[in-house]
Amino acid sequence: MIELHNVEKTYHSKSGDIDALHKTNLTINAGEIFGVIGLSGAGKSTLIRCINMLEVPTGGQVIVDGQDLTAMSEAELRKARQNIGMIFQHFNLLASRTVYDNIAFPLEIQGLSKDEIRKKVEPLLELVGLVDRRDHYPSQLSGGQKQRVGIARALASSPKVLLCDEATSALDPQTTKSILDLLKDINKRMNLTIVMITHQMQVVKEICDRVAVIENGDIIEEGTMFDLFTNPKTPTTKDFIKSINNVELPAILKDVPLSKEYIEGGKLLIRLSFIGASAGDPLISSLVKKFDVDVNILYGNIDSIKDTPYGTLLVEISGVRTSIKAALTYLHERNLRMEVMGYVS
Ligand SMILES: Nc1ncnc2c1ncn2[C@@H]1O[C@H](COP(=O)(O)OP(=O)(O)OP(=O)(O)O)[C@@H](O)[C@H]1O
Ligand SMILES: [Mg+2]
Repeated sequence: MIELHNVEKTYHSKSGDIDALHKTNLTINAGEIFGVIGLSGAGKSTLIRCINMLEVPTGGQVIVDGQDLTAMSEAELRKARQNIGMIFQHFNLLASRTVYDNIAFPLEIQGLSKDEIRKKVEPLLELVGLVDRRDHYPSQLSGGQKQRVGIARALASSPKVLLCDEATSALDPQTTKSILDLLKDINKRMNLTIVMITHQMQVVKEICDRVAVIENGDIIEEGTMFDLFTNPKTPTTKDFIKSINNVELPAILKDVPLSKEYIEGGKLLIRLSFIGASAGDPLISSLVKKFDVDVNILYGNIDSIKDTPYGTLLVEISGVRTSIKAALTYLHERNLRMEVMGYVS
């Protein structure tokens, strides 16, 4: 649905040029919720604003729904932009217009009649749960309600893509959750492609199918949420994951030396991560039954990525060398991710 080919952006300012985005390649599939996570100044807003050409890229191609936005005239672009809705951290509502009139605004600009507008706005008020607020002004609404108006307004022109720039960053955790639930619901119902820009891993984990990590204008890592969670490759990604997931070794093991080699009478420390149906498998008991090993659970956690259960177990396995080896082979063949941390004596 969205393809970026070598998209780059340099800002020219009095104090010099700023390369906010280096040659970036990205493919976002139709119907997907795609996250872009990065620290402040990483280039997230630049990237998302290049997708609808609010920022004109310095180079590269932006293809949305098969159309090359970078090759369009102003008039063509205006038309193509109706396909791409956007919501913002600070909502950007018109203070002098009611909820209804804010949602109607893009449709008025498109020149729709009052009747056509009403037919579109009323179901949207229903969808975002603001029927009883239709005549209120933004100043009379809570942050969550304002963002609901923002979402309804973005959906008014029936876009195929919704861009969200830190859409929940100004909201408390509970309101964030309700907005994310709404976005998930819209994504499913309308098969809307959603791009979420955020600096919060919690947001990504709650809603995204795939995610890219951006740092200093470069995408440094990209993958499914499970990939990123179980096998983060860069220090930045590891830090983001640490912010919500306790994947550190328990304190008592922190200073214990880990050996790569088998230690007679020692225990092998491994971390297992599993997702979906396999999270319910009786893994530990079958290890003990099938192989001559003891398994001790040091740490366990069940969480979810989007709506799929996701578990982490830190276990130590003890036994003779051949039994441990057989147990490892068995684990390798299972539908899980395993990190062998080493032997402790
Ligand atoms: N209009 C502009 N003119 C000059 N420099 C800019 C402009 N917009 C952004 N930048 C610079 O480009 C870099 C990337 O900025 P961007 O706003 O994309 O980051 P971000 O990841 O969205 O950060 P934040 O999380 O704080 O919103 C920063 O160094 C920023 O100062
Ligand atoms: Mg930003």
